[in-house]
Amino acid sequence: ERFFQEKRLLEGKHVLVTAGATVERIDPVRYLTNDSSGKMGYAIAEEARRMGASVTLVTGKASIAAPTGVTVVKVESALEMMEAVLSRLPEQDVIIKAAAVADYRPAEQAEHKIKKNEDEMTMRMVKNPDIAQAVGERKKPSQLLVGFAAETQHLETFAQEKLKKKRCDLLVANDVTMEGAGFGTDTNVVRIYDSGGLVEALPLMSKGQVAARLLTLVADRLGKGR
Ligand code: CTP
Ligand code: CA
Repeated sequence: ERFFQEKRLLEGKHVLVTAGATVERIDPVRYLTNDSSGKMGYAIAEEARRMGASVTLVTGKASIAAPTGVTVVKVESALEMMEAVLSRLPEQDVIIKAAAVADYRPAEQAEHKIKKNEDEMTMRMVKNPDIAQAVGERKKPSQLLVGFAAETQHLETFAQEKLKKKRCDLLVANDVTMEGAGFGTDTNVVRIYDSGGLVEALPLMSKGQVAARLLTLVADRLGKGR
């Protein structure tokens, strides 16, 4: 039933989804990363394709296989992800930033494996660019940007701040301390916001169901004279 109703809601649309965790190299055998299974972003990519979209999935490290029928662009670092997203931005109708992007990267990458010569070591980190914000600054009014926020406290306040700062049209916030909403799970509990406030508070659902609900909201908002 749902299949026939929603299948073509994104027909002819180009949707770019980022997913998974970026990997920030320290040396050839070590890296820093974030908790992210990639499941939420992959579910969105799969559902968007099912709804008729041409889907580009820009993915960092993930623990599951990418869905079929989508264009997969594999990246490692936040800098690579940013380049992959911005270079494909002009042709997109929707950009969904589900990736867990590392906020900082090591200031230097050692060419060779670092040896344990010292008793203590300090690593200098530098901030990565904010990819969602870069998209928000560059996007055309017709392009729709969806951001994510993973929080452990002050969900609504932090979600609204991120939505404004990154100029997102929709922001999906999840309280990662909630049962069934943590990293690596097959379920999620999210609240979806726009600049006017709360749009929807969804109950515990599979990530596929969250994806379907989110993309239905996206389809509603596309081409509404924005
Ligand atoms: N994001 C991004 N580029 C970054 C960091 C985050 O595009 N360098 C995106 C994420 O993909 C997500 C949104 O911004 O869609 C929010 O990520 P989050 O980590 O919750 O927020 P930050 O802005 O990084 O703030 P903080 O980690 O301090 O809460
Ligand atoms: Ca962050």
